Amino acid sequence: MRTFRNILITGGAGFIGSNMIRYLLTGDSGFTGRIINVDALTYAGNAESLADIAEHFGGGSTPRYVFIQADIRNRQNLERIFNEYQIDAVIHFAAESHVDRSIVGPESFVTTNVLGTYTLLEVARQYWQDRFGTLAEAPVLFHHISTDEVYGSLGATGYFTEDTPYDPRSPYSASKAASDHLVMAYHHTYGLPVTLTNCSNNYGPYQFPEKLIPLMILNMLENKALPVYGDGKNIRDWLYVEDHNRAVWLVMREGRVGEKYNIGGENEWENIQLVHALIDIVAEETGKRAEDLRRLITFVKDRPGHDRRYAIDCSKIKKELGWRQSVNFPEGLRHTVRWYLTHQSWIQHVRSGEYRHWIEKNYSNR
Ligand code: NAD
Ligand code: DAU
Repeated sequence: MRTFRNILITGGAGFIGSNMIRYLLTGDSGFTGRIINVDALTYAGNAESLADIAEHFGGGSTPRYVFIQADIRNRQNLERIFNEYQIDAVIHFAAESHVDRSIVGPESFVTTNVLGTYTLLEVARQYWQDRFGTLAEAPVLFHHISTDEVYGSLGATGYFTEDTPYDPRSPYSASKAASDHLVMAYHHTYGLPVTLTNCSNNYGPYQFPEKLIPLMILNMLENKALPVYGDGKNIRDWLYVEDHNRAVWLVMREGRVGEKYNIGGENEWENIQLVHALIDIVAEETGKRAEDLRRLITFVKDRPGHDRRYAIDCSKIKKELGWRQSVNFPEGLRHTVRWYLTHQSWIQHVRSGEYRHWIEKNYSNR
């Protein structure tokens, strides 16, 4: 089993990255080292999501949690960070992640997801080569977080396997596909030790409320329209965020270097069915009437190029590494609804834009 001392997490102030940091430092991961969270704090990054972690693990002479506001497109910053913190593993979450935004403005998707990943790979390669000589033998790992969207869109049947040819169809998924190819190319060309995971739709606490599930929950609480794209019959496979992060950690420790693993919920829902399920839970949790909430459903113009169905075959990680989903969907959804109901100040700061100034108003490690 591989062990790591100084993990550089990029995009750790985002949804999945912040949950990963929480899992590594406070969950049953067994990780005893230090995390360096490098995040540019774009609109999607929120240092407030890790306020308690910064307080408990960020102090003292040898903090286990260090936050650095930096952009992965800035090579000099990354070089300094690798050197200063003697990074031996990278978990690369940082990305522009929202499909709708990629349709309206693709440029940052190309610069961050493609060029940013290239820059990070290049800095890791050079730093680890200087430190260990032969990359293939170096006790280091670059783990790249990717998406099932790189495989394209399915019809009513079939599943994405690790061998499904890439067929990205939005600027977001094209930029993620490019980054996946670069990661694998660095492994094949330079021997960089890499692992890569492609995951389906995550849900859970700290998700920015532009994504379907938090958007619907918050709009229900405010009696706002619930915008459902097209006919509402597009299908997504949903996985609780901590199950994703457990899978990533397992792959990092026990997965085969140079391999990619699919991660999924085996939990397909039409968007409209999911909205109805959320309505039932929100009604039960708040005392609002489900009929009133259902009246808020508004079918709107479809997302251009909207992929019809995603479905993951995750038998490889199950068979090879013994991973299983642990959170069932009704429980995970209810937990998520309760989380949004009980974290009003986080929501208000996100809604008002105040979260952008949280790091200046509070503190940073640097
Ligand atoms: P997110 O948008 O919530 O967070 C992204 C984070 O990256 C933010 O904190 C942002 O500030 C940071 N960031 C963006 N550009 C940066 C840059 N140039 N330099 C440094 N930091 C930068 O995204 P998420 O939903 O947490 O997704 C994280 C990763 O997981 C992404 O790579 C995404 O493609 C992948 N993924 C997401 C899902 C999902 O359902 N959300 C599913 C599969 C894979
Ligand atoms: O599949 C993994 C991907 O899941 C990740 O790679 C992306 O980073 C993540 O954003 C997510 O992409 P989706 O486009 O599937 O997620 P989103 O929450 O934007 O939309 C989920 C579905 O709901 C999709 O079919 C579009 C639809 N939708 C979305 C929104 C925001 C609506 O019908 N109405 C909405 O308002």
